[in-house]
Amino acid sequence: MWSTPFVLSLLLATTGHAIQSPILEQSDGCGKTLPKKVTAGGASANISITSGGLIRSYLIHVPQSYDIDTPVPLILSYHGRGKNASEQELLSQFSNSSYNPNAIAVYPQGVANSKGTRQWYGDPDAPTSINDISFTSDLISHLLSRYCLDPTRLYAAGKSNGGGLVGLLACDPVTSGQIAAFAPVSGAFYLNKSTGELPPCNPSRLPIPIIEFHGWKDKTIRYLGGPDDSDRGNTTSIPVWVDGWAARDNFSVIQNVSSSVCPAPYKKVTKYNWNNTVEHYNISNLFHDWPSTYPNDDGNFTTCFDATSVIMDFFSRWTL
Ligand SMILES: *[C@@H]1O[C@H](CO)[C@@H](O)[C@H](O)[C@H]1NC(C)=O
Ligand SMILES: *[C@@H]1O[C@H](CO)[C@@H](O)[C@H](O)[C@H]1NC(C)=O
Ligand SMILES: *[C@@H]1O[C@H](CO)[C@@H](O)[C@H](O)[C@H]1NC(C)=O
Ligand SMILES: *[C@@H]1O[C@H](CO)[C@@H](O)[C@H](O)[C@H]1NC(C)=O
Ligand SMILES: *[C@@H]1O[C@H](CO)[C@@H](O)[C@H](O)[C@H]1NC(C)=O
Ligand SMILES: *[C@@H]1O[C@H](CO)[C@@H](O)[C@H](O)[C@H]1NC(C)=O
Ligand SMILES: *[C@@H]1O[C@H](CO)[C@@H](O)[C@H](O)[C@H]1NC(C)=O
Ligand SMILES: *[C@@H]1O[C@H](CO)[C@@H](O)[C@H](O)[C@H]1NC(C)=O
Ligand SMILES: *[C@@H]1O[C@H](CO)[C@@H](O)[C@H](O)[C@H]1NC(C)=O
Ligand SMILES: *[C@@H]1O[C@H](CO)[C@@H](O)[C@H](O)[C@H]1NC(C)=O
Repeated sequence: MWSTPFVLSLLLATTGHAIQSPILEQSDGCGKTLPKKVTAGGASANISITSGGLIRSYLIHVPQSYDIDTPVPLILSYHGRGKNASEQELLSQFSNSSYNPNAIAVYPQGVANSKGTRQWYGDPDAPTSINDISFTSDLISHLLSRYCLDPTRLYAAGKSNGGGLVGLLACDPVTSGQIAAFAPVSGAFYLNKSTGELPPCNPSRLPIPIIEFHGWKDKTIRYLGGPDDSDRGNTTSIPVWVDGWAARDNFSVIQNVSSSVCPAPYKKVTKYNWNNTVEHYNISNLFHDWPSTYPNDDGNFTTCFDATSVIMDFFSRWTL
């Protein structure tokens, strides 16, 4: 059978212009029945894969609306350090059809250290031998071959150390070319201990669409950077990190700033926006929290929006 890109180029060659009805790209998983443990609209399934010589696991939610012949987007959602995949499913709500009716949601799980703390590549305590960037790439190949996905609509979100990993995925030449848009929440962007700098950032395409949310009162991963709460390492200042992406994406230093995102009586939220491609929310009353309108696993402080809804809207605007 011809691959979709081939058929598409054939159509373009024949007609000379893109045809009106959208032709979705599709993965090898299209037409395949769901794996035994996985039910559309059912509880998430715990699935294992081998990557980098380790057995890794993830939770997968397939929406009720899933049809084996219709490609859908994929959302990867990474938990914070010391948390696990099911906690991230609860916190980020990507399995909730109110936020995400159509995309498959996958919650990868980090490897636990000798003290039983699960973490991701990029954390100062994470052994560099466990490469969660190549794990992500292996996971993407595995999912594309089993589920009917649109390979141009793969997205990544994550909390804290999981957000730090999302930032590294955006910088990696391979994964930056596989994932269409990135959403770190309370991202832990650690500086290299020996250089005092962020790790090298080499995306294979530009612009990289990226959105970050950070609580001004965050004491775990401070808004202005410096030592984390356990003094295991220094993180970068969030405005410096965001400016770095704006510069990399070739936007001018003059951004679009809105301080009226949340009207009174909500506490002040400032949004920075470069051409709807690099976006950042500074939430004055939040700590190390996934922003939400209701109390969640991270805490009882709320704001006027759910980060999950804003992320869904951001992702929906980007395809590879
Ligand atoms: C999946 O199940 C295994 C075995 O019980 C467990 O070790 C692992 O943590 C689970 N993974 C997820 C993502 O829940
Ligand atoms: C994930 O964490 C929750 C809450 O602490 C716990 O109930 C659950 O057993 C954990 N799951 C795994 C697979 O470790
Ligand atoms: C899904 O999200 C909606 C909107 O926040 C909420 O009312 C509902 O309780 C959530 N459902 C579940 C199962 O958590
Ligand atoms: C930190 O930078 C040094 C010098 O470039 C490099 O050798 C080392 O691998 C980096 N550490 C991490 C965790 O990436
Ligand atoms: C954090 O930065 C400070 C100031 O540059 C430095 O003295 C300290 O050693 C750093 N801490 C770590 C854990 O790298
Ligand atoms: C960056 O922007 C400048 C001015 O807007 C433009 O001349 C240049 O071609 C752009 N560079 C890239 C790599 O897009
Ligand atoms: C400025 O921000 C608004 C609201 O987020 C957006 O609609 C608009 O396109 C942005 N303009 C530029 C130039 O970034
Ligand atoms: C801003 O976004 C619009 C719409 O996506 C795009 O056409 C335009 O090239 C972008 N401008 C810059 C400077 O990147
Ligand atoms: C973030 O919000 C706090 C509280 O409103 C404010 O003091 C700080 O200047 C803001 N920083 C940026 C970069 O918006
Ligand atoms: C949120 O409020 C509830 C009820 O007052 C309390 O039991 C819980 O400990 C609070 N959660 C956090 C993280 O502070």
